[in-house]
Amino acid sequence: MILITGATGKVGREATRQLLEHGRDVRALSRAPGQAGLPEGVEMVAGSPADPTSLDEAFAGVSAALIVLSGDVAQEATNVAEAARKAGLGRIVLLSSAGVLHPVPHGIADEHRAAEEAVLGSGAAWTFLRPGPFHANTSWWARAIRENGSVRCWIGNNPGAPVDEYDIASSAVSALTQGGHEGRSYLLTGPQTLTSREQARILGDVLGRELEFSVAPVEEVVEVFAGITGDRAAAVTNVAALHSPRVPWAKPTTAVHDLTGRAPRPYRRWAVENAALFALAESAESALSEGSAV
Ligand SMILES: NC(=O)c1ccc[n+]([C@@H]2O[C@H](COP(=O)([O-])OP(=O)(O)OC[C@H]3O[C@@H](n4cnc5c(N)ncnc54)[C@H](OP(=O)(O)O)[C@@H]3O)[C@@H](O)[C@H]2O)c1
Repeated sequence: MILITGATGKVGREATRQLLEHGRDVRALSRAPGQAGLPEGVEMVAGSPADPTSLDEAFAGVSAALIVLSGDVAQEATNVAEAARKAGLGRIVLLSSAGVLHPVPHGIADEHRAAEEAVLGSGAAWTFLRPGPFHANTSWWARAIRENGSVRCWIGNNPGAPVDEYDIASSAVSALTQGGHEGRSYLLTGPQTLTSREQARILGDVLGRELEFSVAPVEEVVEVFAGITGDRAAAVTNVAALHSPRVPWAKPTTAVHDLTGRAPRPYRRWAVENAALFALAESAESALSEGSAV
């Protein structure tokens, strides 16, 4: 039995699908199992890495786990590591972040470093997947593109090699089901170095629309982030890191190929598969409400 936390999210849902395709037994942890919409055959457990009382049941009889954390990452990792240690879990694949390799100190990196530390103490054989920005992050542009054909970019316009959630999931499945990945960390990227402006150009090309592109200045992004989290100091360091030209995901790595034996997917493919999110017509709204790929 393989446990997946965050199984209803972007990476976890795809990893669940691929594991079932490989004939594996999958247990999924979700705060709302009734609304999870996961394929038949997945064993659902109610709970969350944030709720330690749900984790004993989640880890019982499990041989390996894909851990995706989405709230208080450091605390959730501590809860998970403790439950894994108690259950004598054999293998953990942690969805970490390329941020842990960033030369600019910032809160997101600190949280994921703490999560990796916690997993190191779990006693399980570990693999850390450290992706750069997901292709799906550009779904943040959907509303403004639908409404007025514009992209306001919050992460600067420095080159980076964003990665597809499908490839992160495939990498996780390899690490969960094949030997040779224990004690290793992988910086996961896509196949191409692109600026945000270039991503917007590819998206516009796929949509058949010219998109207006602008980069929000650091001060504006700090205001937005601080407004969401209420933590201005963290917003300042996180935005500084995102806008830094020294991002660790600046160039494509071979990690997805090393793990899966095939090349990672280009951004254009994501744009084609998710074009309905950005479409002008009402069909976009229905695609969203029906639960699209992102
Ligand atoms: N986006 C990026 O560019 C990027 C880059 C590197 C690393 N990462 C890391 O990737 C992880 C997220 O992966 P993902 O995008 O696949 O996950 P996701 O889609 O954001 O969420 C996964 C699941 O977590 C649960 N969840 C959401 N918000 C939560 C909260 N506040 N507290 C507790 N549970 C919550 C939900 O499941 P239920 O409702 O079913 O419980 C959700 O389906 C994060 O650790 C992030 O730091 C992201």
